[in-house]
Amino acid sequence: MDKTFRIAPSILSANFAKLGQEITDVIKSGTDIVHFDVMDNHYVPNLTIGPLVCEAIRPVTDAIIDVHLMVKPVDRIIPDFAKAGANIITFHPEGSEHIDRSLSLVRDSGCKSGLVFNPATPLDYLDHVMDKIDMILLMSVNPGFGGQKFIPETLNKLRIARQKIDAYYEKTGRQIWLEVDGGVNANNIAEIAKAGADTFVAGSAIFGAGKDTDPNHYDTVVKSLRASLATV
Ligand code: DX5
Ligand code: ZN
Repeated sequence: MDKTFRIAPSILSANFAKLGQEITDVIKSGTDIVHFDVMDNHYVPNLTIGPLVCEAIRPVTDAIIDVHLMVKPVDRIIPDFAKAGANIITFHPEGSEHIDRSLSLVRDSGCKSGLVFNPATPLDYLDHVMDKIDMILLMSVNPGFGGQKFIPETLNKLRIARQKIDAYYEKTGRQIWLEVDGGVNANNIAEIAKAGADTFVAGSAIFGAGKDTDPNHYDTVVKSLRASLATV
């Protein structure tokens, strides 16, 4: 089984006035995935960026662009993000009237698909759609804002999700990624990995810790995340 750890900086906490440079720097600093938070001021009480910005950053990087849709409804906007260069599109079950259909729409648009679970949303939504899912994303904060505190109950939920993924892998040989999003930093990333996550979103912990003395601005902070992961 694949035991790779992936770090996914959330550009929500980047400097939007120089977004292209921020993405180049953060990937060169040793991260893997661009986490792209889409908020609609309806499903969540905040408003961020859409397909136009995804299209603009696509030529800047070869890294995977992981689009996290915090919007309702989701179906109209999914093909737009696929055309704009997204590689993974995840959405919240509460954002879709027909979850199976929306997952298929993501796949049919050419992207990897995933479901996102808020802290209080049960994992039961997975039970009949595992074959349509490439990534499970557990929110460790309530969605809408960067810079919140990690909710510890997420560790129990991660263990349950990891069991489901491993059981599915035993049966099918297909690997599903387990991503965690919210309040991740160098102090808690190791116990989050021990609970079963393999893909770690970090916004404020990375973009809030840039250093002008680092060649790519974020080398030191990314190194400290990797050092914590190495203890797992
Ligand atoms: C919250 C977003 C997160 C957020 C994480 O709704 O989905 O991706 O940017 O930010 P930090 O790492 O600062 O909690
Ligand atoms: Zn996110």
